[in-house]
Amino acid sequence: MTGPLVLGIETSCDETGIGIVRGRTLLSNTIASSMDEHARYGGVVPEVAARAHLEALQPSIDAALTEAGVALDDLDAVAVTSGPGLAGALMVGVGAAKGLAVSIDKPLYAVNHLVGHIAADILTPDAEPLEYPTIALLVSGGHTSLLHVRDLTTDVELLGETVDDAAGEAFDKVARLLSLPYPGGPEIDRAALDGDPKAIRFPRGLSKASDLAKHRYDFSFSGLKTAVARWIERCDAEGIDVPVADVAASFREAVVDVLVTKALAACEDLGVPRLLLGGGVIANRRLREVALARAEAAGVTVRIPPLSLCTDNGAMIAALAAELISSGRRPSTLSFGADSTLPV
Ligand code: KG4
Ligand code: ZN
Repeated sequence: MTGPLVLGIETSCDETGIGIVRGRTLLSNTIASSMDEHARYGGVVPEVAARAHLEALQPSIDAALTEAGVALDDLDAVAVTSGPGLAGALMVGVGAAKGLAVSIDKPLYAVNHLVGHIAADILTPDAEPLEYPTIALLVSGGHTSLLHVRDLTTDVELLGETVDDAAGEAFDKVARLLSLPYPGGPEIDRAALDGDPKAIRFPRGLSKASDLAKHRYDFSFSGLKTAVARWIERCDAEGIDVPVADVAASFREAVVDVLVTKALAACEDLGVPRLLLGGGVIANRRLREVALARAEAAGVTVRIPPLSLCTDNGAMIAALAAELISSGRRPSTLSFGADSTLPV
């Protein structure tokens, strides 16, 4: 095991993630989620998330150090997500990281959450090194972004992102419309098992020729959510039982279709035969299935890190900082702050 020993702190949404890596080797990855506290609201409540981070941070740091078998003084650096994400949630992590780095007199690295998701790939056990360039599709409850990665530490370009809801958010909102619990993704995945994906043709956002000119790599899911709501309203008005399985399967198909079509369009347009997937929505069975099948037909290789590294975690943040350190990047000064809209 070689490389810098880095502790990474991730608090951009509802997961308090603390990860420790030695270079490209994962030593620990503890995750405390406040998801249960958000369940009754049907989505993440920023203030609740920030407060939960405050409570979870110290025990999570202790647990990660114990799991990794290292002491604070052994660390070479501390890393933290400075954005994008929920402002209050980020602020708790950034404050904690600064305090920790100063108290142990170690360098501090502020990193971008989206680039962190790409860095998760590095920690995949027994994986070949990531080849460049690669297209990355990141889909979670907080983001839906398509990126062109020419070099992880120096050259990542945002090609497009959602103009309204994130894909995971759409799953959560549609689950609510179908009276399924939060988080909605796994529930819809389950409900869709017995459904016909072709039963209802729901709209594919920003996919018309007139939209593609300006939004070729952007996503939109709010129109789809509204279409599902209208469909359910019509069933209610006509006194018909909502065919939950068919609605779930058809909705999921619309989301998956648009995600995979746009990701593969980027691969083709830019001549990049590699696609990396990340974010919690990658847990979706149909998304993985369709992405793998259509990518193979298009001659594109797909990489999917283990799910524990796809969802928000501190190890990916530590891994990115370890790469930055190895590439000679200087640490951040303490003047940086949480930036909810931090660009890549
Ligand atoms: O990356 P992640 O764990 O955290 C944040 O976004 O903070 O992603 C969570 C999101 C939720 O919106 C959840 O509904 C969605 O990922 N998700 C899924 C599935 N499992 C989780 N969406 C679709 N299908 C799934 N199987
Ligand atoms: Zn994320």
